[in-house]
Amino acid sequence: MTRPARFTLHPDFTVGDVDPRLFGSFVEHLGRCVYTGIHEPGHPTADEAGLRGDVLDLIRELGVTTVRYPGGNFVSGYKWEDSVGPVGERPRRLDLAWRSTESNRFGLSEYIAFLKQIGPQTEPMMAVNLGTRGVAEALELQEYANHPAGTALSDLRAAHGDKEPFGIRLWCLGNEMDGPWQTGHKTAEEYGRLAAETARAMRQIDPSVQLVACGSSHRAMDTFGAWEATVLAEAYDLVDHVSLHAYYEEIDGDRDSFLASAVDMESFIEDVVATCDHVGARLKSKKRIHLSFDEWNVWYMSAFQARPAAPDWPEAPRLLEDNYSVTDAVVVGSLLIALLRHADRVAVACLAQLVNVIAPILTEPGGPAWRQTTFFPFAQASRHGRGRVLDVRVDSPTYATPKYGEVPLLHATAVRAADGTVTVFAVNRSRRDSLPLEVTVAGLGLTSVVEHSALADTDPEARNTREDPERVAPHAVADTSLRDGVLHADLEPLSWNVIRLS
Ligand code: AHR
Repeated sequence: MTRPARFTLHPDFTVGDVDPRLFGSFVEHLGRCVYTGIHEPGHPTADEAGLRGDVLDLIRELGVTTVRYPGGNFVSGYKWEDSVGPVGERPRRLDLAWRSTESNRFGLSEYIAFLKQIGPQTEPMMAVNLGTRGVAEALELQEYANHPAGTALSDLRAAHGDKEPFGIRLWCLGNEMDGPWQTGHKTAEEYGRLAAETARAMRQIDPSVQLVACGSSHRAMDTFGAWEATVLAEAYDLVDHVSLHAYYEEIDGDRDSFLASAVDMESFIEDVVATCDHVGARLKSKKRIHLSFDEWNVWYMSAFQARPAAPDWPEAPRLLEDNYSVTDAVVVGSLLIALLRHADRVAVACLAQLVNVIAPILTEPGGPAWRQTTFFPFAQASRHGRGRVLDVRVDSPTYATPKYGEVPLLHATAVRAADGTVTVFAVNRSRRDSLPLEVTVAGLGLTSVVEHSALADTDPEARNTREDPERVAPHAVADTSLRDGVLHADLEPLSWNVIRLS
């Protein structure tokens, strides 16, 4: 039998408060994320605006707090003017990023209306095009979106039917500008200058905007580290956040490393924090840059890259429609734990993406919408992961991984809500054995276990499909107890666990 994994919680030892925007997501004009994903006029559940009601219900249940839009790589060719005004008059354009045709039937106004339909807790996160465009177009978009009235562009918005300004406060200054695949890709020096000047100008319109500068597209980029330092040397005083992107997949059957993906994510976060603080020290600045992990997920990218060539310029093709397993959901849960464990610096995070495209929700055109396995850890973390993150230092048995060496079997965090309830989020990375867990809960006034929910399956490949949309769902775990200030639980092999204590 495996020895227990242990940790101690104490109210005085904390990481930081969770910014609700840690539970953001991402809608890009890519594949069927927008068209037949969230927007499908004529669908039996669609409202007058063409928004699918079945998808909106699932998005509300998922608990997303911000939605990044409109890309992604798409934004580097985005002309915001194409996406506003009478739908019938909007131009069709080539989308170079995904070799698709963009109809612009869904645009800026529809995006804001979509967010309103999700609910008041969901705020916009809009990206400006710094690939093929620059400062002037960013300012025009900001004026159109946010200025109340009495100027050419704010009056144009009103004439288009949106009298009230959109109030977008969070803006991304481009997307993955370090990537050679990006239309209008730049060197760190070029982008740093452009980001700084765009930020300075946007703050001239509204000093309170919150701005995200592009960091590295992933940690393995040759320019990682130097890119962030160079960009921030230009833009430190002008931006609030630097972005991080990371996608994980099982490569060559190395499941043990895949299950430890969060080891990489946590190191990535810590490296970027160190780089930001190094620039801050050089500038003798008291300001701290926060992190926007605005693309993260499991993505079977190598399969996508190896796919046979498809006909060019289709409209809303089926792209990146990964169908996730129980194993993938456990990794997604672990990535959520990694984000929460760094809540002191990660202010924004976006699960990429929201519907159909590497997404927690899948749809069929004219047909149903359903929850992927990865839906559940996100929904549970968003619902119960609000409050203050407690410092968790695990003492756990380990296992060997080819990529990361010895890794703890237990990955965990805990969040204390305003009402004193504590939720422990825990992943058992063992594929074979259950893991006994003991948590000492000193000084938290906790006396009972409200719930222990687990996502695990005898078949780690189990998935939800159109034919069997409810094959995988979390189940209640019996026998979890709190005795003499110690929580005792048994974590099933390869499982995501949510244990709520009051
Ligand atoms: O999310 C899919 C793509 O991944 C995005 O368009 C891009 O930013 C990233 O490389």
